[in-house]
Amino acid sequence: MTNKTDVSSKAPLQGFSPRNFQRLSAYVYRYSGIKLPPSKLTMVEGRLRRRLRALQIATLDEYCAYLFDQGGLDLEAVHLVDSLTTNKTDFFREPQHFAFLVDHILPKMLAEGRSRIKVWSSACSTGAEPYTLAMVMDDFLSSEGRATYSILATDLCTQVLKVAQRGVYELDTLAPAPAPLRQKYVRNASDRAARLCRIAPALRSKIGFARLNLMDQSYAVGRDMDVIFCRNVLIYFDKPTQQAVLTKLCAHMRTGGYLVLGHAETISGLDLPVEQIANTIFQRR
Ligand SMILES: C[S@@+](CC[C@H](N)C(=O)[O-])C[C@H]1O[C@@H](n2cnc3c(N)ncnc32)[C@H](O)[C@@H]1O
Repeated sequence: MTNKTDVSSKAPLQGFSPRNFQRLSAYVYRYSGIKLPPSKLTMVEGRLRRRLRALQIATLDEYCAYLFDQGGLDLEAVHLVDSLTTNKTDFFREPQHFAFLVDHILPKMLAEGRSRIKVWSSACSTGAEPYTLAMVMDDFLSSEGRATYSILATDLCTQVLKVAQRGVYELDTLAPAPAPLRQKYVRNASDRAARLCRIAPALRSKIGFARLNLMDQSYAVGRDMDVIFCRNVLIYFDKPTQQAVLTKLCAHMRTGGYLVLGHAETISGLDLPVEQIANTIFQRR
């Protein structure tokens, strides 16, 4: 999982043979869509270091033999992929998206008479994105008093989901949240010296967390999402994978629903049933 202390031991690690790096990267690509070109070799070695220590395996070639020749893959796939995902996230990351939600999307939905608004954060990492969504939606909708909301938050990485479900963060990470929202939705943790805080239980209860691999053939998710956030994950995928993932996500969005991508992401060259309505924000036809 993220912000991995990549190299927690300075001991040299035996690298991969080219064949083993190729086997491992091909497997990770098939399983998760994440591309690992040879330029990522050093990153992969660093990120697997902790995993090898946990398994008491001395070299990456031995690890690959365990995975691919000795039947270890079934047990190890989740840990392998957990180690290799990049989970960087922040509260109020790319804040224009949340402003657009409050200024345009939510008022329009209320004007249309919607009484329940369903949002999906489809690569939620440690939870900053779904909790930011919950703060702005709760604040807006509680003052309007005419609609309820629910948030589905999913990710492939089991480690980040544990953090997200717990809802406890270092106080400093909440700094980007506007002060009134912090006062309303964030509580100091009991150990003040630790400078931790936790998301208010009432807000947490609005979010359902689950493991979901965007590479799965189909998603066990309703097809009536009003808004889908899929931010800063497509950058790890190639074009055919982006097309396949976004086609499936669009099928889970109602007509007129909104798709929000990260600012470095584009749908150019893809064939999708959406129209662009703002920078990196799209509406389902
Ligand atoms: C860089 S984080 C982005 C988090 C958040 N959306 C944001 O923009 O701050 C990318 C997340 O995508 C997740 N991810 C990578 N491949 C995935 C897949 N195939 N299915 C679901 N999630 C995936 C990673 O585990 C990671 O938490």
